[in-house]
Amino acid sequence: MRCALVRSQDPDDPLAGLEIGELNPQPPAGWVPVTVRAASLNHHDLWSLRGIGLPADRLPMILGTDAAGVLDDGSEVVVHSVIPSPTWHGEETLDPRRTLLSEKHPGTLAERVWVPARNLVPKDPALSWAEASCLPTAYLTAYRMLFDAAGLRPGQTVLVQGAGGGVATAAILLARAAGLRVWCTSRTEAKRSRAVELGAHQAFETGARLPEQVDAVLETVGEATWSHSLKALRPGGTVAVAGATSGAMPPADLGRVFFRSLRIAGTTMGTREQLVAVQQMLVATGVRPLVDSVVPLDGVRDALARMAGGDVVGKIVVEPGEAGAGRAA
Ligand SMILES: NC(=O)c1ccc[n+]([C@@H]2O[C@H](COP(=O)([O-])OP(=O)(O)OC[C@H]3O[C@@H](n4cnc5c(N)ncnc54)[C@H](OP(=O)(O)O)[C@@H]3O)[C@@H](O)[C@H]2O)c1
Repeated sequence: MRCALVRSQDPDDPLAGLEIGELNPQPPAGWVPVTVRAASLNHHDLWSLRGIGLPADRLPMILGTDAAGVLDDGSEVVVHSVIPSPTWHGEETLDPRRTLLSEKHPGTLAERVWVPARNLVPKDPALSWAEASCLPTAYLTAYRMLFDAAGLRPGQTVLVQGAGGGVATAAILLARAAGLRVWCTSRTEAKRSRAVELGAHQAFETGARLPEQVDAVLETVGEATWSHSLKALRPGGTVAVAGATSGAMPPADLGRVFFRSLRIAGTTMGTREQLVAVQQMLVATGVRPLVDSVVPLDGVRDALARMAGGDVVGKIVVEPGEAGAGRAA
């Protein structure tokens, strides 16, 4: 079947090892096939191509952690991408041997993907295929950062770093819908304006001094914004961290952390129940994922280049099947 795959890895030139080609993986016994109607791209796909989180001995590997599609009986589903190890009992994100699709098992940027039955969530008909395909990584992660890791409540103030990103735009939309005061930062004026259109109350230049300190910061940028994130927090505030696009080893600033009783809450993806919950929240509020663009499989190379250059606002969606084939790359 046609797919987007990692053929080789290069930390400095991730697109060199990307191939749009054919691969026919052997799924584990009992896993359920899903015909992919839409899959969305994530920074995770670039990490895989750079050789981070995907060991070279698993290549070639089909990319993609997110999908919405159809089962052989016609049921419409969203795929939960967190695959626990076979003997794990308990919350799947806490399994040290868990993997995401495309890390051990073939990913979603393909005509078909196979998952365990428990990783299927019924797709709500209110969402389009493209919208539903944004949920399993970016929207699930943002939901859990806001309402679980940071434990935010209506009326509180949250700062979202790196406003243009997939997780960040999800966080802005969900936070506004939940009655939070939403501030964000971005490196470009165009993305700051877009963030305000999306629902942010105020958008600041990256690293700018804020009018007052905030209850929580959502951090996926890493080294470039970490020091600002700690300074932005009120005493007792929480930084929820789920990513480090610009580097994962910033100065810890421990003096500030203990003297101001700051909480650093690491979080990754979310549970199946949280995936159901974020879909319910979108349906109930009428909020819809921000789709930057929709491309066919042949458009994945250009789309990932745009993502690597920070030139995306929201989510890029891929249609791997016939609908996508009708689109120009
Ligand atoms: N742990 C998890 O479960 C999980 C889930 C999803 C994502 N993540 C991680 O979270 C990160 C974001 O993912 P994504 O898919 O949302 O990526 P993305 O769409 O590529 O967004 C990254 C954003 O980071 C900001 N940024 C990048 N480099 C920067 C720099 N040097 N200085 C300031 N800002 C910078 C940019 O915002 P502006 O251009 O607006 O400034 C950019 O839009 C990635 O590292 C990803 O691996 C983790």
